[in-house]
Formats: sequence, C-alpha cells, structure tokens
Amino acid sequence: MFSQLPEPTLDPILSLSVAFKNDPRTEKVDLGIGVYRNSEGQTPIMKAVAQAQTIVTSEQTTKAYVGLAGCEEFNQSIAKVVFGETPVYDRLAVIQTPGASGALRMLGDLMAVAQPGTTVWLSNPSYVNHKPVMEAAGLQVKYYRYFDTDTKQVNRDAMFADLRNAGPKDVVLLHGCCHNPTGADIALEDWQLITEMSVAQGFTPFVDIAYQGFGDGLESDAYGLRYMAERVEEMLLTTSCSKNFGLYRERTGAAVLIAKNAAEAANARGKMLTLARSTYTMPPDHGAALVKTILADNHLTQVWKTELAEMQQRLVSLREGLCKQLNTVHSSDKFDFIIGHKGMFTVLGFTAEQMQKLRDDFGIYGVNDGRINIAGLSESQLPYVANALITVSQ
Ligand code: LMR
Repeated sequence: MFSQLPEPTLDPILSLSVAFKNDPRTEKVDLGIGVYRNSEGQTPIMKAVAQAQTIVTSEQTTKAYVGLAGCEEFNQSIAKVVFGETPVYDRLAVIQTPGASGALRMLGDLMAVAQPGTTVWLSNPSYVNHKPVMEAAGLQVKYYRYFDTDTKQVNRDAMFADLRNAGPKDVVLLHGCCHNPTGADIALEDWQLITEMSVAQGFTPFVDIAYQGFGDGLESDAYGLRYMAERVEEMLLTTSCSKNFGLYRERTGAAVLIAKNAAEAANARGKMLTLARSTYTMPPDHGAALVKTILADNHLTQVWKTELAEMQQRLVSLREGLCKQLNTVHSSDKFDFIIGHKGMFTVLGFTAEQMQKLRDDFGIYGVNDGRINIAGLSESQLPYVANALITVSQ
C-alpha cells in the first residue's frame, strides 16, 4: 500500500521552522511562521492566560468529555468577540474546533455536503493552507485578483472585476483583517460593496479572521465583517485564539455560520457535529477553558485586551522602526509600503530566489511567496534585517 505513495512535499511554512532550528548561525532571524515574539525573541504566555490557567487547574475536577461542540460558554463568548452587538445571534451556529485550520476544514466539509459542486474563491495570494484544505474537502478553488505587486496595495478594480463573476454556487473567502500573506487589507467601503455584490449575485461570503486585534484593534478589525453579517442571508466564518490569545499549541478556534433563520442554523450546526464525530470527535479542551475563563471575568478580559493592544502597537512600531532604518541608514523609501500594511505579515515583493538568498546569505527565514512575519522581529535586529533587505533587493 505505502509503496504507491509519492514523495511528500514539504509545507511551505512549517518546514521553515525546522530549517531555522537547524541553522547554526547566531544572527539568524525567524520571520517564517506567524507567531508573535516580544523584544527578547520569546512568545510569552499572555498574562490573562497565565492567570486563567491557575484558575482552571485549581477549579477543574474532571477530565471527562466535554461534548461534540466543545465548550458552549467558549462558543458564545468567542462569537461575542467577533460579532459584538451585531444582531445575528438568533441565526448563528458556532462550534469549537481544533484551531482555525480545523474550522476551515469543518466548513469545507460542511459546504461539500450542503452544496456539492461549490467553488471557493480565494484572494490571489491567500494563506498557503486555504487551497489545500478546501481541495481536501472536495471543493473547487478559483482565485480573484487581489494584490498589486507594484503598489503593494489591494488592486480593488481587479478584485471587483473578478468577483463580478461569482454566482450563487460560489463562496468568496475574505480575510477579516490582517490579510495573510500580504498585510494589505480591504477598506470598509470594499466590505460594503462586496456585501452588495453578495446580495445581488447570490454568492456566500466566508470570512477568515485569524488575526483579530492585530490590525487596528479588536473592535475595528471586525467592522467590515460585522457590516456584512447583518446584511447577508448566509455567511461562513472561522476564527482563531492562536494569535490573539497566544494559544498556538492548544489548537483553539471556532467554525461559525450564519443561516437564513434559526431552524436552518440549528440544522447546519447538527451537521457540523456529525462531521466532527467522523473526524476528531471533540476538540481539545484546555485552550477553550482558558478563553472562557478570561471572557467570563471583567478584570481578566481587561488584562487580556490591554496586552493585546500593546502587542498590536508594538507591531506598528516595528514596521515604523524597520522603515526608519531603511530611510535614514540606506536612504531608501522602496519598502515604505510596510508601514501601511496591517497585522503580522507583509509581502516584500521578493521572488522565491530572493527569499532563498535572504536565508542563505543572512539566515533570515521568510516564506517563499515573499512573506515576512513582522511579529518575529525584535528591535535590536532591525539594522541587520534592513541591511539584508537592501542587499537582496539590489
Ligand atoms: C501562518 O500563516 O504562519 C500561521 O497561520 C501558521 C499556520 O498554521 O500556517
């Protein structure tokens, strides 16, 4: 059986972490996988999470199963983080999933059974795992133009021109904020226009909001999707606690859908539970127990929001710091677009060969599609990285 298997291809992001670990150079810089690091280069346990952990371990009396949908209080409170006061709760279904990748696959599987022949439209480029997950669920994938490689901004005209071809059996995947990989986000007016197009053309929006809180802030990052959620009949959404709660390894996320009415939402939720049973049965509990504990406590919620806002601000100042180095030391403004990008990532516009050169010559690890993780930089590395960018770009 196994002799029929082709050689496996390496994951373009996860393989970088292994290569980075094995690199003996002390000056190496990991700008690959989307993980936040502080100025000491560590990914800390957030303060509210550490406190919640003490509460959870001291109060937990059993390790018995929680249930197919995971923790209900988690599901309700994470929906509140995403939708705030938006009136969608009477037609919403939320289930806890193993991370946001688990949520993507869950909704992919759901689409495949609910509407065989669904095509999912992804931005070009999109998060490298979107296509494999959607295809593994048996769906067709198409791309809409998104990023202008010259301006390093969203090419709105091209995006809208392509989306005009999306119809009732199509699903359009949008990044809620902090576009992965480019860092170039659509504006509120774009959300409004895509909402109108969805209503007029019949396609279903699917929002991946894995980085809520890292762009302009927890609330602002959700304005676009909230506007949309109120106005469309159906919508799909995945969210993650990996980044904004720093719970990466705990695999905590949620699959969310808005249906036409409560009965259809309940039915779709039931189908998701059946799908969960036939794959992983139940999501792991610990991360959701921590998030639930934080969001049920006003003080802990405040501690969490304050630290998240500090992380968001630090990303802004790292972007500014990098550009300042490039402007003042190298007299170059060619990377000034980095300041306008949002969240953890920026696409530099480098080719795969240039990204390889960054790795080979400088030990700077970014993804071959040109993406670097700004959150992987520390202040002391900015001169080194700025110099490398200039050298490789020449
Ligand atoms: C990333 O894009 O680096 C993260 O979302 C991690 C992952 O699972 O790929």
